[in-house]
Amino acid sequence: SPVLDLAGRRVVVTAGGTREPLDPVRFLGNRSSGKQGVAIAEAARERGASVTLIAANLEVADPAGCDLRTVSTALELRDAVREAAVGADVVVMAAAVADYRPATVSEAKIKKDPGSDEGLTLELVRNPDILAELGHAAHDGTLLVGFAAETEPDAGRLLELGRAKRRAKNADLLAVNRVGWASGFATDDNAVTVIDGDDTIAAELHGTKSSVAHGILNVVVSKLSSA
Ligand code: C5P
Repeated sequence: SPVLDLAGRRVVVTAGGTREPLDPVRFLGNRSSGKQGVAIAEAARERGASVTLIAANLEVADPAGCDLRTVSTALELRDAVREAAVGADVVVMAAAVADYRPATVSEAKIKKDPGSDEGLTLELVRNPDILAELGHAAHDGTLLVGFAAETEPDAGRLLELGRAKRRAKNADLLAVNRVGWASGFATDDNAVTVIDGDDTIAAELHGTKSSVAHGILNVVVSKLSSA
């Protein structure tokens, strides 16, 4: 049986990938399946935490025993996480949040112009960086864990990207993983480096998404008990 080292803790996890609508039938999305975030929610639950899972378009089954909030767009995810983060001990931003959304959402399905074979230009606007907003707001007593999915092949540069990202967003921990066409998303295994607040490596994890989840939570538990 698991050690209940998160008993009495409230953990919020975002998982999946946002979808930004263009019209009633189309969206801009990404390849995040939600597996790693769901694995973290499940692992936190097993370890005794009370877990809120903010789920954006999951391709995996909802985990049992979590308070589930379903969202689709970045703006919906932002509202849900802001509300859930109040008084939380830990917020894990595992969701892949779209950096941009269409400037306007067409009420009718966008049609191609039958009179021309020209392309179509979409105008996009920036979404808020939700993790950075949380990181730069007062968040005493709430440990913030971010993720970075990068395609950088060089391990050293990957680590530097992760460190820079942790600092820019003012997260307490940042889990970096290299993704590509065949790894990271939708797979059952993952390899993650957890960067600590002093830029040191808190953990190097690889294995199933469940074992990576527990490895990340081991770092979280040690930070909570030293706070
Ligand atoms: O900047 P990048 O998208 O690589 O950062 C990834 C981290 O930031 C993840 O933890 C993700 O959930 C979060 N993020 C966010 N809001 C955005 C983009 C990313 O909270 N608009």
